[in-house]
Amino acid sequence: MKVARGGREHWGSRVGFILAAAGSAVGLGNIWRFPYYTGVNGGAVFVMVYILCVILLGFPLMFAELSLGRRTQKNAVGAFLSVKPHSPWFLAGSLGVLAGFLILSYYSVVAGWTIGYFIESLLGVFRSFHNATEVANYFKAFSANPVKAVGYHALFIVLCMLIVIRGVKAGIERWSKILMPTLFGILVLSIIRALTLPGSFSGVKFFIFPDFSHFSLDTVFLAMGQAFYSLSLGMGCMITYGSYLSRKSNIPSNGIWIAGLDTMVAFLAGFAIFPAVFAFGLKPEGGPGLVFQTLPNIFRVMPGGVVFAPLFFLLLLIAALTSGISLLEVVTAYFVDEKGWSRKKTVLITGTIIFFMGIPSALSYGKLAKPIVFGRTPFDFVDKLTANYLLPLGSILIAVFVGYIWGRDKASREIMDGAPGFKLAPLWLFLLRYFCPVVVAQILIFGFLSEFTSPAVQAFTKILQRYFIIADIALLGVVAVWTAHFFLRKGRKFSL
Ligand code: PHE
Repeated sequence: MKVARGGREHWGSRVGFILAAAGSAVGLGNIWRFPYYTGVNGGAVFVMVYILCVILLGFPLMFAELSLGRRTQKNAVGAFLSVKPHSPWFLAGSLGVLAGFLILSYYSVVAGWTIGYFIESLLGVFRSFHNATEVANYFKAFSANPVKAVGYHALFIVLCMLIVIRGVKAGIERWSKILMPTLFGILVLSIIRALTLPGSFSGVKFFIFPDFSHFSLDTVFLAMGQAFYSLSLGMGCMITYGSYLSRKSNIPSNGIWIAGLDTMVAFLAGFAIFPAVFAFGLKPEGGPGLVFQTLPNIFRVMPGGVVFAPLFFLLLLIAALTSGISLLEVVTAYFVDEKGWSRKKTVLITGTIIFFMGIPSALSYGKLAKPIVFGRTPFDFVDKLTANYLLPLGSILIAVFVGYIWGRDKASREIMDGAPGFKLAPLWLFLLRYFCPVVVAQILIFGFLSEFTSPAVQAFTKILQRYFIIADIALLGVVAVWTAHFFLRKGRKFSL
């Protein structure tokens, strides 16, 4: 085993790291959340804005988290403490660890459904349905059944625990190297099947040709939140995975691979889902049920559906598993590094806590399907709290910390270490210091304002949105001019 500095375990190979980190990023966010957000937000327009968010916000933050992790060789909290000891900045990391607990607690509920659907589709359950209502009712009954919901939720957490307990190389990396290629294989098969269905082209059109009449400011804000969620940013996950990197690793190139693979899988998932949805004359606006209610309808009648139904849910399960283990690793690394607990003890304790925390979410489609936490079901509450608040807040804090507290010089020295040819460090810092905090702060503000339904607040939000968008466009203009200037002056010493 490769062990360095203080006995910390390291990734065994570059490919292993990329697959593990891409495994964290590629998850339910890509195959369940991204298609349903695209479906309800006008298709290609949402996809375009999303890609812009990945480039302008995702890449800079991905590089920031990986650099901070590799430099400090510490978990989410320890990384802040080692750069800035005796300051409240460690709280930014604690927020990440808290987000790890919370996200995994409800993520494993949806992941649990995929286990259930995988098993039931193997048993041929979907073939026995006669119409769409039966499929919808099946999903309702399935998700409301407390034994199934809690049981599969528990099973998913146990699977994550079994992998994380083995450690970084023998657990996370080894399994990612098996699971990720399998995921790609199944995805490609699903796309071929979808695209060869008669009438599938309208689905392709919906997904790649933008219809700007669907564009609204909400599209921009939702796409930004989705980008953080999908890239596993804003909660120290990439800090933690980066902390198992050796000094020789090339951060920009690794980061580009991770974000690139994640975006590609989201894109491919769209090609597997929308052509099939349109080929069968169904609506793309299925919302959260798109994957669990709309798709089984297709498998019910599609030639080859008996095989493709279990394959598709296996695909979802694999994607969820490689993300679930990264969430558990964020929490585990914290207790192992900071509290000196053994990995085994930590995984057993944290896994059990997360299981209990997730029970209200698991019951949110049955007994607890009531607005009991701030007007929401427990599931919805945790989903919104993490995606709309904790991840954006964490991202702002990480951008400010790396850009200002750790500082331009040290951060750019770190990113260039292992990547001496990387010419874009100044552009990276520019985006991190000026662009990300401003734009992401807006997501937070709008997330918060959209909680209020009073007409006065809504009117105020509309006005505020208009100003913010003007400010964003101005900022984008500055970024464009600055980038052009940067490339024209390439080679000269940079200062800002
Ligand atoms: N990126 C994962 C997904 O798309 C979710 C996730 C978020 C994982 C944050 C880790 C950290 O499903």
